[in-house]
Amino acid sequence: MKIEDYLSSLPSSIISGEDVELSDKTLREIFRFAGLTTNDVFYHLGCGSDNSVMISVQEFMVKKAIGIDNNKDKITHVQKLLEEKHLSNGSFRCEDVTLSDISDATVILFWFSDERIIEKMISKFEDLRSGCKIITIWGPLIGHMPDKVDFPYILNVTPLKKANSLRDQMLSIFNTDCIDFAVAWEFADRYSKSIGSKNLENDRFLTILQTLVIWINAKNLGIACGDDIPDPIKSYMGILKTFFNIEVEHLLDH
Ligand SMILES: C[S@@+](CC[C@H](N)C(=O)[O-])C[C@H]1O[C@@H](n2cnc3c(N)ncnc32)[C@H](O)[C@@H]1O
Repeated sequence: MKIEDYLSSLPSSIISGEDVELSDKTLREIFRFAGLTTNDVFYHLGCGSDNSVMISVQEFMVKKAIGIDNNKDKITHVQKLLEEKHLSNGSFRCEDVTLSDISDATVILFWFSDERIIEKMISKFEDLRSGCKIITIWGPLIGHMPDKVDFPYILNVTPLKKANSLRDQMLSIFNTDCIDFAVAWEFADRYSKSIGSKNLENDRFLTILQTLVIWINAKNLGIACGDDIPDPIKSYMGILKTFFNIEVEHLLDH
């Protein structure tokens, strides 16, 4: 089965990342990466039931933290937790992020994969004050160059900088001249560790899939090291095909 068919066989909530929660450890890493300070007005867009607002207020003492999500149940749940902690600098809003007023933001956590939402939000981000930090995970804002990367965490600072090409964008994220198996594996592994579950076997499977996706994209963009398919990439393609009945080789432009 082609990987596209495998992905479409999964529940849509898994593919959309609707219920993926960022762990407290990951949130702290993100806040340190963004250099969150007491002067910041922090927004978490699509906050779900994450502890981002609580942690940013309690541990990073931000001036204000606002979590926005359009899921009423999730917002009711986190609002209750916040009230129990009596954290007056934090608040939640049950709203569609594309319609929300975020004009006072200085740091934004924005982890969406839906391109329609991303496109709308990029126009909103462009209107924000200069120096506003937008943190994304795994990829930068579509069509823009990152200002700082500690993969999988990526920072775009306003005014946003347009990327000349996908190739430039990818090389700036990986901070290398070309992408080989080791680079692809290391970055895929970092991603699994920051968003993965506590189940190591699932993480390993995710790392293998992401390694192949990174390497194949690099190859198609002409930034893989060398002309041949590296042996470990061939082996993992073979393992996926033989043991999981998932094919990825057709994704390569020939
Ligand atoms: C990791 S985020 C992003 C998921 C989103 N479907 C995507 O990948 O583009 C998941 C959270 O965003 C929330 N969410 C999805 N669309 C939203 C919207 N338009 N406005 C506010 N929250 C949204 C969901 O309720 C969920 O808690």
